[in-house]
Amino acid sequence: MILLTLEPIVWTPAHLVGIEAIDDDHRKLVLLFNELLAACSAGAGNRIIEKALDATVALTREHFAREEHLLETAGYPRLAAHRQEHRVLLKQLLSFGGQLTGGAPMNIDPNVVGFLREWAVRHIFGHDGDYIAFLRRPDAGA
Ligand SMILES: [Fe+2]
Ligand SMILES: [Fe+2]
Repeated sequence: MILLTLEPIVWTPAHLVGIEAIDDDHRKLVLLFNELLAACSAGAGNRIIEKALDATVALTREHFAREEHLLETAGYPRLAAHRQEHRVLLKQLLSFGGQLTGGAPMNIDPNVVGFLREWAVRHIFGHDGDYIAFLRRPDAGA
């Protein structure tokens, strides 16, 4: 059995975007990802991992749609690239789900779990940072 020792993702106020709905989503996504990582680390059955993954995918879809709508309304100039990044990330997340649907209990590959962790960190703490400066610019009128 593979023992995983992945640290949970830590949320801090430094990651606040300043928009309640987005910050709520990011906080919840961190919680869901940590549950998913914990389920993988604990060697939980596929069903439990799948359930955690389903919840993560559902919120991710909702969140991406919400964020894209907001950025569209705000006239964010790099929306197309951000949207593309969302697509790629979602595809990767779904492909992880595809690996769980084989039926037999899955040997969780530590690289896959590490990838999931990176995925969340990359989205929430990484590329979303791109639009914060734009939304907070002095003439944004917010
Ligand atoms: Fe986001
Ligand atoms: Fe985003």
